[in-house]
Amino acid sequence: MNEPAPATPTRVVIDTDPGIDDAAAILLAVASPRIELVGLTTVAGNSPLSVTTPNALRLLELAGVPSVPVAAGADRPLVQPPPTDRSASVHGEDGLGGVLAFAPAARPVPRHAADFIADAALESTITLVAIAPLTNVALALALHPELEGRIDRLLVMGGARREGNMTPAAEFNIWADPEAAARVFGAGIPLTLLPLDITHQALLTEAELHRMAGSGKVGSALAEMVAFYEHRHLHDYGDSFAPLHDVLAVLPLVAESAITFEDAEISVDCGASVSRGATLVATGGRMASPNAVVGVELDREAFAETLLEHVASLG
Ligand code: BDR
Ligand code: CA
Repeated sequence: MNEPAPATPTRVVIDTDPGIDDAAAILLAVASPRIELVGLTTVAGNSPLSVTTPNALRLLELAGVPSVPVAAGADRPLVQPPPTDRSASVHGEDGLGGVLAFAPAARPVPRHAADFIADAALESTITLVAIAPLTNVALALALHPELEGRIDRLLVMGGARREGNMTPAAEFNIWADPEAAARVFGAGIPLTLLPLDITHQALLTEAELHRMAGSGKVGSALAEMVAFYEHRHLHDYGDSFAPLHDVLAVLPLVAESAITFEDAEISVDCGASVSRGATLVATGGRMASPNAVVGVELDREAFAETLLEHVASLG
């Protein structure tokens, strides 16, 4: 499901903690003619920064674009202690299911992620895709107030309207650094939020995974990662329900009509109670002042087709 590419592709920076669903999101962005991938910035999240940064480099090498810059950022949240390393339970010891076991040839650029985001946005406006705890984005906004108006859109995978996946109230990316999320959501940047309620629809069938595995070197590697991720969910949670959350933060830039949105007002619980890290999403008459659009419905087949076609195009 390819929508026509615009004459000028969107300049995109992805802030990420790869992560198997991050891998799928990054590969989709690399493959899309609608996106000019300006760089990846990495943060501690699914795994420590020392793991997420080389993983970003590995993914770009796999995709055949090793010269896309990677800038490493925060190794811990703004205020609270770092979360315990969850990669061993969800994404594997190395964060990518043991699939990309090579030393990346490239090195990260010698620039902090927050400064990299600012440099990119000041050169020419960017769209920022955040698929990890929002620490780097909050730091960029705090260090570079001149960024205001230079980020034309911020797409965030995070939050939950109903049940969280770290606590009954909170989703991982927001739970891991609620103060950063509150800072970012309050910045006045046009915000597109993809919470768990919609990312739980981002599932591939067995047949689609099989098709991906046969679609080339990149598809085969990604399918192996996704199979690991599904297996881990089966082992740890007793179900094979393994949504590719982060892909939905890139999808609106590639296949706009695949997601339905509604206006919303998002706030974050930064208190110390059991609901710390919860996202409060008001819609309709309950909004005092909308600050976002929130994804509510996914065309699952369009999602799957778009991902499969793009990954296959990487060979
Ligand atoms: C989010 O947490 C991470 O495990 C995923 O990569 C995604 O960004 C889903 O809650
Ligand atoms: Ca992620």
